[in-house]
Amino acid sequence: MSEKKTYYITTPIYYPSAKLHIGHTYCTTIADSLARFHRLRGDDVFFLTGSDEHGQKIQRAAEAKGMTPIQYVDEIVALFRQLWRELNISNDDFIRTTERRHEKVVQALMQRSYDNGDIYKSQYEGWYCTPCETFWPENKLPDGKHVCPDCGRELELVKEESYFLKMNKYAERWLRFIEENPDFIQPESRRNEMIAFVKSGLEDLCVSRTSFDWGIKVPWDPKHVVYVWFDALANYLTAIGYGSDTEQFEKFWPADLHLVGKEIVRFHTIIWPIMLMSCGLPLPKKVFGHGWLIVDGTKMSKSLGNVVDPLPLIERYGADALRYYLLKEIRLGQDGNFSLPSFINRINSDLANDLGNLLQRTLAMVEKYEGGVVAAATVRTGVDDELAAVAAKTAELFAAQMDEMKVNDALNELWAFVRRTNKYIDETTPWVLAKEPTQAERLQSVLYNLVEALRMIAVMISPFMPQSAANMWQQLGLHDFDAVRLDDVQTWGAYPAGTAVQKGAALFPRYDLKEEIAEDKEEAAAPVCPAAKEPVKAEITIDQFGETDLRVAKVIACEKVPKTAKLMKLQLDLATEKRQVVSGIAKYYKPEELIGRHVILVTNLKPTKLCGVDSAGMILAASDGNDHLQVVFVDGMAPGSRVR
Ligand code: MSP
Repeated sequence: MSEKKTYYITTPIYYPSAKLHIGHTYCTTIADSLARFHRLRGDDVFFLTGSDEHGQKIQRAAEAKGMTPIQYVDEIVALFRQLWRELNISNDDFIRTTERRHEKVVQALMQRSYDNGDIYKSQYEGWYCTPCETFWPENKLPDGKHVCPDCGRELELVKEESYFLKMNKYAERWLRFIEENPDFIQPESRRNEMIAFVKSGLEDLCVSRTSFDWGIKVPWDPKHVVYVWFDALANYLTAIGYGSDTEQFEKFWPADLHLVGKEIVRFHTIIWPIMLMSCGLPLPKKVFGHGWLIVDGTKMSKSLGNVVDPLPLIERYGADALRYYLLKEIRLGQDGNFSLPSFINRINSDLANDLGNLLQRTLAMVEKYEGGVVAAATVRTGVDDELAAVAAKTAELFAAQMDEMKVNDALNELWAFVRRTNKYIDETTPWVLAKEPTQAERLQSVLYNLVEALRMIAVMISPFMPQSAANMWQQLGLHDFDAVRLDDVQTWGAYPAGTAVQKGAALFPRYDLKEEIAEDKEEAAAPVCPAAKEPVKAEITIDQFGETDLRVAKVIACEKVPKTAKLMKLQLDLATEKRQVVSGIAKYYKPEELIGRHVILVTNLKPTKLCGVDSAGMILAASDGNDHLQVVFVDGMAPGSRVR
């Protein structure tokens, strides 16, 4: 096989200005599938996502809620992490632009550009779109209208002292680079748009703001904060150790792929390369602008009330079903539509009927005819050769298409193989062979071939549906799924004969379309979680409540309790004393997500032992009864503070 390579892939870092919706899920799912595919290839992968937390938009949103910006973003970022966990996103890092490591990088880059003579001070007077955090020079506004060409909202007139980056100085070099690297911007239509944009004249870019302060300070002039896009784009350097871990940085930079939505291609292909040129750093290898996910034919928007929350979908239909639908239904680069009926139909036809059924039928026959143990294939016929040839061709095309990011084509190829394997059952009719004692070896061979095809399918669906692939692997009686590589689908016949299968529940349940639609409407009308339906407890007096001593405590250390699925051991600092508590939150948080956070502790609860570990108190968490849990964080408050 080809030699081991590095592969650095990023999604945009999302604004924590609202909850993430199914459109955000789309980008992250594609990136995750590509990252998983490259790991399968044996590449050394770094997959990055995160949150973009500074800027005027966030500051205003926090103010509107009466919160500090950091309190506001902390809450939303916890939800981001929960979503990615539930969707099985395999990111290697989650970067927050409010982290100290990032601040250092942004300041170093700013300083480098400044020292290179590319940043100067002036006055910005012009138009700004706060929701998009974009400056709009008059010459880029069609018909002189003061609405944002990207989102259509009213622009604000901004007048303030700012630093500017000399964009135009790099325009020629940029055009040369694009000519020499025709694959840098993809798809091609976006590339042409960007060339036209640069050719129409590049204005210098305002890279600092002085009218608010929620941002990273300009190192030589701290009354300015760095423009949020300059800050955000630098995340791609921070996460791999720019300025702190040279070995890792040099290993992964330049990035192989920045996957972004079409409306932010301009930032990634014009502003970002020019920032890098100004700092003397190599440019990323590729920026791909994907299309948008629209819902029932319309763009999602809060005012239309058609924003689809991915969490309930994951809860009801499973992460893999949603991942499959998004990847299969939408052609990368084009807009695609989400509708509940088409989602349900896909689950029923492709997942439950084609794939789930193939596994169920095959394993049921292995159990029924072979006592659950797969024997070797000793009798080979033309139809077997054909199946093996289709398998080999599928493996080849799958790898080639994934290498070219043709995710839909790869999935189509794979499903053609799934259907071909189902057809093989109809052609070989194992139930007829089973009645004929002279056909015992032929029956064994047919069943072996089916199991072998399923083994290959499990490997190839793993980038798209990691849980189902692991489940198939287990049902096929195989081990060490994490060690599976693309090499494992290069040879037909690698399934070890003599293996006992472990038939389990159906991979995908089938849904009744009408019932699902009715249920969806009901839920939309009354979105009540199970916990809300529990009756309120008997009344108590304020004095009774006052007997509960609630304090703010800082998590200083944290680890899972070994051999338990749920328990986490936390060391807490209450300012005047330290405590150890055990809490049933291990399913919902990783230790590193809790360390440093301020939580609420019930301090006067009788100490106890949980699974043999001492616990002196209890931390508060909210739970909706639907397997969603969130610890109550009070990060701005000093340890020891009272909560009443
Ligand atoms: N914070 C910036 C990105 C900075 S990257 C250095 C930002 N954030 S965002 O939260 O507004 O959008 C993040 C990504 O989500 C963008 O790539 C955007 O295209 C994508 N999507 C938002 N809505 C979408 C759909 N409906 N469909 C598909 N993706 C869309 O921009």
